Amino acid sequence: MKSSTIETVKTEREREREREMNVVSKVQELAKKSGVNNVDDAIAFALGYKEGVRVRQEEAKKPRTDGKNVVMVTGGTGLVGMAIQEVVKDGKQGDEEWVFVGSKDADLRNIDETRALFAKVRPTHVIHLAAFVGGLFRNLKYKTEFWRYNTQMNDSVMLCCKEFGVKKLVSCLSTCIFPDKTTYPINETMLHDGAPHKSNEGYAYAKRMIDVLNRCYNAQYGCKFTSVIPTNIYGKYDNFSIQDGHVIPGLMHKCLLAKKNGTDFTVWGTVRYLPFSLSLHISNHNHIF
Ligand SMILES: NC(=O)c1ccc[n+]([C@@H]2O[C@H](COP(=O)([O-])OP(=O)(O)OC[C@H]3O[C@@H](n4cnc5c(N)ncnc54)[C@H](OP(=O)(O)O)[C@@H]3O)[C@@H](O)[C@H]2O)c1
Repeated sequence: MKSSTIETVKTEREREREREMNVVSKVQELAKKSGVNNVDDAIAFALGYKEGVRVRQEEAKKPRTDGKNVVMVTGGTGLVGMAIQEVVKDGKQGDEEWVFVGSKDADLRNIDETRALFAKVRPTHVIHLAAFVGGLFRNLKYKTEFWRYNTQMNDSVMLCCKEFGVKKLVSCLSTCIFPDKTTYPINETMLHDGAPHKSNEGYAYAKRMIDVLNRCYNAQYGCKFTSVIPTNIYGKYDNFSIQDGHVIPGLMHKCLLAKKNGTDFTVWGTVRYLPFSLSLHISNHNHIF
């Protein structure tokens, strides 16, 4: 074994040890706060603490008795979520309470964080917008992450909706997940009639599985899960990145730069498909939800 490899192994072992010591010191710190001061008691305390969290979550799974309708919007900080926030002023709409959450409230790829969020908000209805999204280049570059992150988020949200007795879940699909070779006009019955375009297959298959699981959860548990399929959306709060964003905001940004710098406005690709005719401004979209 080369010395550099030994060093790497040593470093990894050291790192592992450091991680263990971090956990122990965190447990000790927690225990100290609650008045126990040896390691065994500290571990017992930590287990009890975890148990406490689990018990609280079990409590939260019981149906609400306050008669409130609480609509939780995941992805509430994104383009579509912010547009819905503008429609639902002050977090109230009739007798409904609306709660908009972003990734800072919980990383929905993580089931524990998702359960904790559901236990805190106790939603009766969920609009699930959170997703790992992007334009063509991002889709081509991160196919694996598009599949994994979206599948993880969708799985956590759907499972929690079932566990916490959510009355209705509406998730968001996209027209770009339809088969590459299809006939127009398209409708929801044609979603699985062929492979999606290769460029966004990670994203497309993860999104398509929402449609499959909507039916599975209904057949097995009677859950009312459904989804909407918007076309490309653009507008306020969009991601205007030329590399990572969608086509319309990307074109707007390029146009602005060309005007500002007095340079050519170069458009990639061909005009076989006109993106403007396939895109919807957010103001026409947000009321639909
Ligand atoms: N934009 C379109 O053209 C279009 C078209 C059809 C369908 N859709 C669908 O519409 C939905 C919303 O899209 P959008 O354009 O509004 O997207 P966006 O602006 O990129 O917003 C994505 C949202 O997801 C949240 N998010 C991302 N990763 C997360 C994680 N690990 N845990 C928790 N939250 C996470 C983000 O939270 P933070 O910002 O707090 O990190 C943000 O609120 C998506 O499901 C998308 O597939 C969009």
